[in-house]
Amino acid sequence: MQEWTELNSTQRADYESFVQQVYKKSGIDLNLYKSQQMYRRLWGMVERANLRSFTDYFALINRDSTEWATFLDRMTINVSELFRNPEKWEEMRLKVLPALLQRGRPLRIWSAGCSIGAEPYTLAMLLDDLKPGVRHYLLATDIDQKILERARQGLFTETDIRSVPASYRSRYLRAAGSDFEVVPELRQRVTFRKHNLLADPFEKDFDLIVCRNVVIYFTEEAKDKLFARFHASLTPGGVLFVGGTERIFNYREIGFESRIPFFYERVH
Ligand SMILES: C[S@@+](CC[C@H](N)C(=O)[O-])C[C@H]1O[C@@H](n2cnc3c(N)ncnc32)[C@H](O)[C@@H]1O
Repeated sequence: MQEWTELNSTQRADYESFVQQVYKKSGIDLNLYKSQQMYRRLWGMVERANLRSFTDYFALINRDSTEWATFLDRMTINVSELFRNPEKWEEMRLKVLPALLQRGRPLRIWSAGCSIGAEPYTLAMLLDDLKPGVRHYLLATDIDQKILERARQGLFTETDIRSVPASYRSRYLRAAGSDFEVVPELRQRVTFRKHNLLADPFEKDFDLIVCRNVVIYFTEEAKDKLFARFHASLTPGGVLFVGGTERIFNYREIGFESRIPFFYERVH
């Protein structure tokens, strides 16, 4: 396969026109994702469809909604699991959430790029455990409509739930054939919504925003803008929680402080 940097002008024009057509159809701007990685992934899809150009591939995904869904699915990579990186969630349980709960009112929390729902359900479990009965606002968004439909069902495999503490398993999950489902009382607490982090407006006044393993594919510029927008959407003292490879280096410039690695608190 050719690398992005080795493309001739015709190939580049073919790809660039594809990027424009995808933008017109969906508002998804592929230029905001790292070009080398995105190009490779997309060219893989062209080849898998037995086609030779992005022009032909766009014609296919434009006329066939199943192919369009497959394109979105592969483009975004939905890998997730409950309590992903359990040690970080332990810090969330012991330090971050108890401090936020001191606010003495239901919290506003956003899981941004929630994929199959593992992340918002993890939050719902922790909150129920720490303050049973309180109804917090728990928003979970993703760009991928198909994955959100799956997330709403709250169905997970044995692998997806391997890091769930035993006492949570028995309280919040129940067997569903060979899989496990989140109990309806907990499922109802999460509001799932389609949302593009690189294009759509953000709600305000969140106490906590969790955005993990999403920005790895974004360009540096897109990331900078996104972190500044998250900052503006948090209340003072509110916290942004990012993934294990997504440390924010210029956090002070944005207006964050970081007392625990990967947790950024809005200070002004
Ligand atoms: C690897 S999953 C991360 C899931 C979860 N946050 C976790 O850490 O386990 C990345 C998710 O980001 C979503 N995503 C990618 N680009 C996005 C965008 N521009 N706006 C919203 N979600 C996006 C994908 O659809 C995918 O479900």
